[in-house]
Amino acid sequence: MTLWSYALNNDKRLIHKWKHYFPIYERHFNEFVNKPVTFIEIGCGLGGSLQMWKQYFGPHARIVGIDINPECKKFTEDQIEIHIGAQQDTAFLQGVIDQVGIPDIVVDDGSHVMSHLAASFDFLYPKMLKNGVYLVEDLHTAYWEEYEGGLRDPRNFIEICKSLVDELNADHSRGTLPPTEFTRSTMAMHFYDSVVVFERGTTTKKFGTETGRAFDKLAARVKRKLGVDHSQSRRSSSTSSNGSAIK
Ligand SMILES: C[S@@+](CC[C@H](N)C(=O)[O-])C[C@H]1O[C@@H](n2cnc3c(N)ncnc32)[C@H](O)[C@@H]1O
Repeated sequence: MTLWSYALNNDKRLIHKWKHYFPIYERHFNEFVNKPVTFIEIGCGLGGSLQMWKQYFGPHARIVGIDINPECKKFTEDQIEIHIGAQQDTAFLQGVIDQVGIPDIVVDDGSHVMSHLAASFDFLYPKMLKNGVYLVEDLHTAYWEEYEGGLRDPRNFIEICKSLVDELNADHSRGTLPPTEFTRSTMAMHFYDSVVVFERGTTTKKFGTETGRAFDKLAARVKRKLGVDHSQSRRSSSTSSNGSAIK
């Protein structure tokens, strides 16, 4: 069953999501299905999405709902726990982490106020597991002033993400932008309509490769990049295996 078919057939608690989000979830969350995942959703609404995540991730998943509304506590059931507090309150978030551990996945579907979602992201993202996924949805509010947004407004989370694209590429900025913790711990950023997804990961030393016919040349370059076997690499970069010169 896909998440979309679950939503269409849902006769349990109410789910409130835009339809185009469902394939996005499948694309980025699929590898966590049936794993002992710790999944945090900021914003419980009427509790339906928490039940959907429980069904989707399977019997080993720990589904953690965060909401400012104390009434959400009633959504507690097997595999689903609710923590009441404000997403912008980092002491509260630390308390949640202390209790549930480091999350594999965070979905921010909370207040959608720019300073709130930035506070949650700044606090939670660096703490996540190295293959964690952080998804912020309903980012149409980034363009709405009642949510502290507005086109090109620097408080707007989309604008913050544009700067993070530069941080992701800092290694190639020729020293103009020093690499950060974000650079070192982020594999990818994905932009969709109203949704941004961050995929964490660690990179090994970065360098370009060429594969195919000029293999000796590649081997020489790789060795040079790695700083090993200089005498060998000098020889192999100037001559091919049959002794003729290569470019
Ligand atoms: C859009 S609803 C969540 C819908 C739910 N995730 C779903 O898909 O069905 C937003 C929720 O965020 C909660 N919320 C609003 N401001 C918040 C804040 N500052 N911190 C935490 N939760 C907040 C609201 O109480 C509400 O339950």
